[in-house]
Amino acid sequence: MRLADFGDDFTWGVATAAYQIEGSPDADGKGPSIWDTFTHRRNWRGKTPIADGTTGDEATDSYRRYAEDIALIRDLGFSAYRFSLSWPRIQPTGSSRVNRAGLDHYRRVIEECLANGIEPWVTLYHWDLPQGLQDTGGWTNRETAHRFTDYAQIVGEALGDLVEHWMLFNEPLNIVISGHLVGNFAPGKRSLPAYFASLHHVNLATVWGSHALRSATSGADIGTTQYLTPPVGGGPGPLADLAARSADAVLNRAFVEPIIGRGYPWEEAGLLRGVRAYIRDGDLDEMTADLDFLGVQYYTRLRAPFLPIPGLWTVPQFGGGGADDAPTTSLGWEIMPEGLGMVLDAMHAYDHFPRLVVTEGGASFDDRVVDGRVHDPARIAYYSSHLAEVAAARERGVPVDGYFAWSLLDNFEWALGLVPRFGLVYTDYATQARIIKDSGYWFAEQLGGSARPG
Ligand code: FCB
Repeated sequence: MRLADFGDDFTWGVATAAYQIEGSPDADGKGPSIWDTFTHRRNWRGKTPIADGTTGDEATDSYRRYAEDIALIRDLGFSAYRFSLSWPRIQPTGSSRVNRAGLDHYRRVIEECLANGIEPWVTLYHWDLPQGLQDTGGWTNRETAHRFTDYAQIVGEALGDLVEHWMLFNEPLNIVISGHLVGNFAPGKRSLPAYFASLHHVNLATVWGSHALRSATSGADIGTTQYLTPPVGGGPGPLADLAARSADAVLNRAFVEPIIGRGYPWEEAGLLRGVRAYIRDGDLDEMTADLDFLGVQYYTRLRAPFLPIPGLWTVPQFGGGGADDAPTTSLGWEIMPEGLGMVLDAMHAYDHFPRLVVTEGGASFDDRVVDGRVHDPARIAYYSSHLAEVAAARERGVPVDGYFAWSLLDNFEWALGLVPRFGLVYTDYATQARIIKDSGYWFAEQLGGSARPG
């Protein structure tokens, strides 16, 4: 399989997110986000919620080094850059006041992309809620969905003349489940009411935000992204099936179906009925987002063993879902390329989304620099096998027309800190030197980029 076989209309990009790369947490009037707060939190033992105790205070310093990053993207041969806007740079407290300097920064980033022949693909929300909104309940408060709608309008009006491709949310699953139920992500809540409330409010914000962005822009290509997984149930006979269906409802369907007017799939997971407490009259009648594409993000399949929990029947887990010897990444995530084909088929089957774009995919491995080179054959194998699935899906008639590698460069990997390395480019955090990995050269060679091992 050669990348050229995907044809000229296929979009090749790399992805990043503001908090994972920018650093400069106080620059130019930025307000604090929930990730600034969360990474600096300490428990009574002095430990932070981040595995290696690091923060995004510096990350890859890309707030200052964006031009260097964009030059790398060009040299790697990619024609699109997916990055996110930090909401508290634009609205320091999340409401009303707009910080011009924040918008100006992103205008410069966008102009730099355009000057290098790279299409900017802009995500409005990649998890860094302004702390000011968290102080009034964050996503558990319905007002936050209204504030997000205002923010969508503001950025649409300010940047819509230069940006064609937009995504509202990055992976609501992680905002809602990791942030409000499991608590390993900001804001670190662990409660069922917080889970139900944030689920509905993020879904509402997706719908309302899509309409606001549409009205503030003209000719825009608007999408939103979802973390998707083909859950595979475990357990005896029909119970395995029950576990898989319930996991599918909670992990995938509860985020996709409400925003396309299909309501919540509580018949498959009775637990989801808890969300009814937050649904107001009329909400479900008008809940259809105005989307041109769905961003599909796939890393691994989650295991969903049967557990006798009424209304849930399973608690999905990372880790090998299949045979014990299934290959995994350095994070223990099972490498299962067929899963990408499965989630693409599942989204196509809704017969709702005009197009699908793989807006993230990638793998972390224990990369090492040896004589100035990073040999990462496992990552090249990961991309080849997953791209073969995309090609096969296209053959089956699934309208998927883009692929974004996660990530341009190693960066701050949320609760796991700086240890996981997902980049096509290695980051030396001591010096902020960027070293192109073999996987980066692999793309460059096929996409016509100029980067070659020196
Ligand atoms: C995705 C996130 C992205 C990054 C990758 C590894 O779930 O969207 O920010 O953390 O995982």
